[in-house]
Amino acid sequence: MTQTQLKVGPYTVQPPVVLAPMAGITNAPFRTLCREFSGGKGLFVSEMITTRALVERDAKTMRLIHFDGTEKPRSIQLYGVDPVTVGKAVRMIVDEDLADHIDLNFGCPVPKVTRKGGGSALPYKRNLLRAILREAVTGAGPLPVTMKMRKGIDDDHITYLDAGRIAVEEGVTAIALHGRTAAQHYGGTADWDAIARLKETVPEIPVLGNGDIWSAEDAVRMMDRTGCDGVVVGRGCLGRPWLFGDLVAAFAPGGETGGGAGSARPTLKEVAGVMRRHAELLAEWLEDEERGVIDFRKHVAWYTKGFSVGSEMRKRLAITSSLAELDDLLAGLDLDQEWPPGADGPRGRTSGRNRVVLPDGWLADPYDCAGVTADAELDTSGG
Ligand SMILES: Cc1cc2nc3c(=O)[nH]c(=O)nc-3n(C[C@H](O)[C@H](O)[C@H](O)COP(=O)(O)O)c2cc1C
Repeated sequence: MTQTQLKVGPYTVQPPVVLAPMAGITNAPFRTLCREFSGGKGLFVSEMITTRALVERDAKTMRLIHFDGTEKPRSIQLYGVDPVTVGKAVRMIVDEDLADHIDLNFGCPVPKVTRKGGGSALPYKRNLLRAILREAVTGAGPLPVTMKMRKGIDDDHITYLDAGRIAVEEGVTAIALHGRTAAQHYGGTADWDAIARLKETVPEIPVLGNGDIWSAEDAVRMMDRTGCDGVVVGRGCLGRPWLFGDLVAAFAPGGETGGGAGSARPTLKEVAGVMRRHAELLAEWLEDEERGVIDFRKHVAWYTKGFSVGSEMRKRLAITSSLAELDDLLAGLDLDQEWPPGADGPRGRTSGRNRVVLPDGWLADPYDCAGVTADAELDTSGG
């Protein structure tokens, strides 16, 4: 493996490893956990923030853009469909010093978003994409702007190579590619060859590969196979924030053999300790123990995957609402269990889709100047 120095604007990201933005997951507490395992190395992107909600200073959104005082650079992912609103949001971030790096999300495959022409449907309209990128880069001034996208809508409507060239022309700093189309959703396997093709198409800027990295070894393999400059890791970290420790070790000098440093294999006792800390961080962040523990519930199945916990206990863990209750339940587990082999590999969403819902006539002309209605921004979750 050749060691590369990933630069995102003025920031060197070493090892070249990025926590994927995940709505409802990569909030400040989860980023803190991952950073604790990585020793602060790597780049950790916020969950997606819609530009309209930011500009309107929606209370929930203002909490979502919270960064622990030690996070540097502070990376915010924005999702917007209107160049003017994106420009306003970016200028607000700069003027109020809310972040150090802005990532733009063009990968969301959710039907209620693509139906309006938003998310992963948007790059099909090349001029609209260009207008959004231009507003963002201009408004961001000295802050680096990156973008994250999928390959396209479906195999017949591939957009990533055009989008990549447009991004370079508009001054985007780096591009992350999730090697799936919107039609694939999370099914099948990510196309790493597409990542290599994007790298050839935009040699001027760093390309970050994304999709199906389940271990540090996978990350090293993706870099070797595609020539990408860094990797973005999403679902592999769900219930496994320590994967960041593995990634740092694999990319450290001497770790070049590819995951040579091995993988963390925590016992259930150690996993329970991380679960407790995660729930506690969420409670602190939300300033409400009950809400924190309730928010933590979604992580339980990921943390306990493969361990022998029993369906009754799993159910009880998934309805806890206080830290004391969580402690009691965790103490009742058979904590001496070793890391189960079944816990490696895919986790999180894995399902596919057949068809992408689009606005009428959306595919007729990739270059028309159609806009997207603002409600393509409402209540979205994902990429
Ligand atoms: C629960 C969940 C939420 C996600 N939210 C976002 C998001 O807010 N922004 C984004 O760009 N991608 C989002 N994604 C997509 C991931 O960032 C990533 O591109 C995708 O999961 C593929 O990478 P992986 O195979 O490493 O998981 C989300 C994915 C999941 C599973």
